[in-house]
Amino acid sequence: MVVFEGLSESYTSLMNAAKEAMSRAYVPYSNFQVGAALLDDEGQVHYGCNIENAAYSPTNCAERTALYRAVADGKRPGQFQAIAVIGDTDTPIAPCGVCRQVLVELCSPEMPVIMGNLKGQWTISTVSGILPGAFTPASLDNRER
Ligand code: THU
Repeated sequence: MVVFEGLSESYTSLMNAAKEAMSRAYVPYSNFQVGAALLDDEGQVHYGCNIENAAYSPTNCAERTALYRAVADGKRPGQFQAIAVIGDTDTPIAPCGVCRQVLVELCSPEMPVIMGNLKGQWTISTVSGILPGAFTPASLDNRER
């Protein structure tokens, strides 16, 4: 993984939005805040933070909060330009496997995924780059009917 220390202007502002979202995390159990900012095709930014639960498994990651929120607000799959994710990690945060699968479902394979940390380090990949060989909606197309 290549870790950079400077970011283009538009991605910097998206990462700043993710950082703002991070401060809104509800994390009484892990005390590990994560923030996400999802840029849509109209230039709107959808915020996401992780939201934990005393029963643990209902916990929702920052990335999925942003994606689900955007869909509930009227965006459709494919209407997203980029997502930035940030956490207080030693190296740029790595989205969990479940979030990678949800990104595959709702975003184009080429969509940039910008991952950062509070040290200002970041790395960039794409939706297909972070989940190669994914099971996708198209995987269902050859069902016997
Ligand atoms: N978490 C995220 O929100 N996104 C990630 O990419 C990794 C993990 C959250 C889930 C949980 O609230 C906490 O971080 C610790 O796993």
